[in-house]
Amino acid sequence: MEQNFQTIVSPLLSWYAQSARDLPWRKTSDPYAIWVSEIMLQQTRVEAVKEYYLRFLEQFPTVTTLADAPEDAVLKRWEGLGYYSRARNLHKAAQVIRDEYQSRLPASFSELKKLPGIGEYTAGAISSIAFGLPVPAVDGNVLRVLSRVLADRRPITDPAVKKEYGKNLKSVYPIGACSEFTQSLMELGAMVCVPNGAPGCGNCPLSFCCLAYQNALTEEIPNVPEKKKRKIEKKTVFLLTCGKKTAIQKRPDTGLLAKLWELPSAAGYLSEQEAKDWLAEHGIAFCSIQKSVSKTHIFTHIEWHMHSFLVQCTEESPGFFWADQTALSEQYALPTALKQFL
Ligand code: ADE
Repeated sequence: MEQNFQTIVSPLLSWYAQSARDLPWRKTSDPYAIWVSEIMLQQTRVEAVKEYYLRFLEQFPTVTTLADAPEDAVLKRWEGLGYYSRARNLHKAAQVIRDEYQSRLPASFSELKKLPGIGEYTAGAISSIAFGLPVPAVDGNVLRVLSRVLADRRPITDPAVKKEYGKNLKSVYPIGACSEFTQSLMELGAMVCVPNGAPGCGNCPLSFCCLAYQNALTEEIPNVPEKKKRKIEKKTVFLLTCGKKTAIQKRPDTGLLAKLWELPSAAGYLSEQEAKDWLAEHGIAFCSIQKSVSKTHIFTHIEWHMHSFLVQCTEESPGFFWADQTALSEQYALPTALKQFL
């Protein structure tokens, strides 16, 4: 497939100069802030990121403030944003940058890629956006744009496609405008060449050379193979209260929602009698139990379908942390999946 991306560079740069959104991370040249934004923007929409980005930088304005912070404080700042391994890795990487790079992000694709949480895409994004290096960042948005331009019907999940696009893009990166070029591709994918609904081909700076547009193939391309169905996990969540306190516990160090705090729960849907048995097994003395709301939470590969019981306890059973409202809102990071029961 003819893949000379030279034709797209200058139209994209002109379009970006006129149309780029005014986003908070576009007002800075601080590599640390750009790194934070790129980590947050992995898997999360721009609108959701904006507020988190500003609050995170307010609390952790530099690599060292982040590196020196307790992990729980970082997770708390991330609370609600999801994909918490991003926060744990950001924190770990800040410590490596503090200890091994004199608290400055390395201006090198290969050094960046060694850091926890920074893969090929993010290393490319930081290299080009923060350091002006000619390195592409090929994510789902960019794959969609390029596969449409080329009318490439291969599945965009094929790593060979990404590799090929990356290699061919790299050869046309405009020295002096690498940051703008990376962001123009992202911006086009977000604003014009959109994933859901009809793309805005009438306003696209690449329609003059886009083979999917010219051959009416934008519905079929990109070729995105169907994802596997999510596994459904049924759970019974216990909202155990004692006076003004609520029982929480810390999740394991690995796996889904690692190191976050949670409400105690049992696998499966328990009847009221089974719930009472569960409380007895856990040595929990209570004076009332009441069936409460049901909620669902969708993760990438799994869905939690949750029933719940509201239980008034007569003592603060050992084995749990009993947190008051202030501690729950200021100190312990609870995933959204469980926070909705509070
Ligand atoms: N998605 C990933 N990185 C982005 C950026 N810098 N601006 C807008 N959307 C993005």
